[in-house]
Amino acid sequence: MLIRRRSDIAPSEITPVAVWRERRSVVQAALAAGLLGATGVAAAQKQPAARLAGRPSALSTMERPAAYEVVTNYCNFYEFGTEKEDPAQHAPKLLRPRPWQVAVDGEVRRPRNFDIDELLKLAPMEERIYRLRCVEAWSVVVPWVGYPLAELIRRVEPTGNAKYVEFTTLADPKQMPGLQSRVIDWPYVEGLRLDEAMHPLTLLTFGLYGEVLPNQNGAPLRIVVPWKYGFKSAKSLVRIRFVERQPVNSWQKSAPSEYGFYSNVNPSVDHPRWSQASERRLGEGGLFSRRRPTLMFNGYGEQVAALYAGMDLKRLF
Ligand code: MTE
Repeated sequence: MLIRRRSDIAPSEITPVAVWRERRSVVQAALAAGLLGATGVAAAQKQPAARLAGRPSALSTMERPAAYEVVTNYCNFYEFGTEKEDPAQHAPKLLRPRPWQVAVDGEVRRPRNFDIDELLKLAPMEERIYRLRCVEAWSVVVPWVGYPLAELIRRVEPTGNAKYVEFTTLADPKQMPGLQSRVIDWPYVEGLRLDEAMHPLTLLTFGLYGEVLPNQNGAPLRIVVPWKYGFKSAKSLVRIRFVERQPVNSWQKSAPSEYGFYSNVNPSVDHPRWSQASERRLGEGGLFSRRRPTLMFNGYGEQVAALYAGMDLKRLF
């Protein structure tokens, strides 16, 4: 976000998805047959193994997902540090995604705490292949696993006063060394308008690549909002609160001239310090790959443009 990064993952480190899937099934079969020695078992256990299948969704993009290694090693999760490698290095050891509760409250008729295992069973899981476009002008294609946030929202019955949804994520200094830095006023907070949160594309996400979310990608649950800059997709949620007033999100609070509430992907509104007109696709040849033009609403305009009819999106960025 505010901090620029230096390096990228070399193309040679990248495993195409098909190879990754095949390698994993070979490892799993070998484990089942008791063929792997101690070293093999240790290597296999490095990867989160719990499966989380989802039925393929018609809302998926046809683009090719990045390699699993890219998605799980090039992360923004400032609670674990500001470098892209920090979350993969620290979150697997430090974050404890069980037991986990999420408070759903505020302007709702049925406020409650949900246990993560209950949330996992609340609605049928889908695999949604979405682009995520970061404000830092890179993008990545990921097969996420989850269900529409609307499934949860309907169950708590928002009142007529619920105009916005505020997402709060875990801030535990014992698990999160990045909290020592003042780069954000913790906890990390994000917000959506209620109709954005109810939109069928807004995914309550529990997994990726057919597995439970690795810690560095926001275990045990996060939001993925594919038409907004990546920072709207808050990780490791602990509270979903329905409110009447527009919430102030963490980035907006830290740099109001640079980050707005809406944060819709918009190639015609530059970040004050760099252009948003194009992007580098992770997994496509590193820093020297051809940049691709950024699409309005990250290419999801057909589905979401109506939410913003009549709004001046240059002013309400
Ligand atoms: N959520 C929390 N709690 N903390 C963060 O620092 N970073 C955001 C978002 N969610 C962030 C977060 C940003 S800037 C991006 S681009 C995406 O997570 C990155 O998600 P990924 O690392 O799974 O690709």
